[in-house]
Amino acid sequence: MSTEPVQRTLDEQKQAAAAMAVEECVSDGMLVGLGTGSTAACAVRSIGERVRDGRLRGVRGVATSRQTEDLAAKAGIPLQEDGAPDVVIDGADEISPSLDLIKGLGGALLREKIIAASSRQQPALIIVADDSKLVDALGLGPLPVEAEPFGWRATLRALENLGCEAAPRADNGQHLYTDGGHLTMDCRFGYITDPASLDARIKRIPGAIETGLFVGMTRSAFVADRSGVRVLTPIHSS
Ligand code: A5P
Repeated sequence: MSTEPVQRTLDEQKQAAAAMAVEECVSDGMLVGLGTGSTAACAVRSIGERVRDGRLRGVRGVATSRQTEDLAAKAGIPLQEDGAPDVVIDGADEISPSLDLIKGLGGALLREKIIAASSRQQPALIIVADDSKLVDALGLGPLPVEAEPFGWRATLRALENLGCEAAPRADNGQHLYTDGGHLTMDCRFGYITDPASLDARIKRIPGAIETGLFVGMTRSAFVADRSGVRVLTPIHSS
């Protein structure tokens, strides 16, 4: 018998984190916020399996994107348009040591934040991720900002005046629009020392609808690496 430790592939890591989060955090009768992205999709499939085989009863979902809505419908999870979820399971693009997040690289940040903020219990988010998402400080990659298309150049200049390089998200020169019909500005600030303050300053720009900074919104994070899944909870300095 081999004593080699389990070496999971990236897909297996995402599945393991998602399955453990569902097992520990979802129970009968809950309304579950269903996140967007490849790891949240693993959680949707895991909930669907449990609904179909009877391990979970009376569970309903509220989806953070059209993509997740389609996936949940296929997985057999009854959906409702809104409502206050008991728990929200979602992915993340960057996770800081205090479990503040950058989200929105998958294009769904406004709906994700609306659903997380409307949860019955705060903080609401159960994050599922592989350990490549753990960072010492947020800002390694771009910070997505959902923006009104009208006057987008003025919004872009106002964002750059806050100290970043910004560009509207596009594919082959064509702007990409969110499910809500907005643009996403990808803003490169470099390391973000005070996420709450930056979030507030961006939201003072009239055309900036919501930012991908999710500050103080994480209840716990299920983070997988090649050998297992760790459950992280926020570290608060006081
Ligand atoms: C969606 O807009 C993001 O907030 C996602 O949660 C994020 O991109 C995570 O996706 P993966 O799990 O595919 O990395």
